[in-house]
Amino acid sequence: MANVLVLHGPNLNLLGRRRPEVYGRMTLAEIDARLQARAQELGMHLRILQSNHEGELIDALHEAADWADAVLINPGALTHTSIALRDAIEAIGRPAVEVHLSNIHAREPFRHVSLLAPVCVGQIAGFGWRSYLLGLEAIAGLLGAGS
Ligand code: DQA
Repeated sequence: MANVLVLHGPNLNLLGRRRPEVYGRMTLAEIDARLQARAQELGMHLRILQSNHEGELIDALHEAADWADAVLINPGALTHTSIALRDAIEAIGRPAVEVHLSNIHAREPFRHVSLLAPVCVGQIAGFGWRSYLLGLEAIAGLLGAGS
């Protein structure tokens, strides 16, 4: 069974009430439940963590080197600022898929750059909560799970 680490970065715990016109009305718990349901169908095992702390996300990535086959990550605003998170993804050598609820390329200029994208297999942005499910499908394809 494929093991996948799912990481949600800063402020994503507020989903549902944070700028719903941009991020939608679904809560993080609802997104996680949908991910778990789809993972079960695909024969994948997920460990999910949300943190508002960069170091905690980095620690989770380091630990994932021992058990995870891939990483699904919405880094939140750390997308645009964190060289440390980028280095951690690169260091563990596991395929990572970057997802965003909003289309970061159609928003403020400071959101157009992702420091993580160059060390990820790909990026999915702009499909609301479905970005996460599309990201999981992408990982299933990469790992040959559910086929
Ligand atoms: C986000 C986009 C980021 O620019 C923002 O800081 C977030 C959420 C998204 O999912 O659309 O916190 O990652």
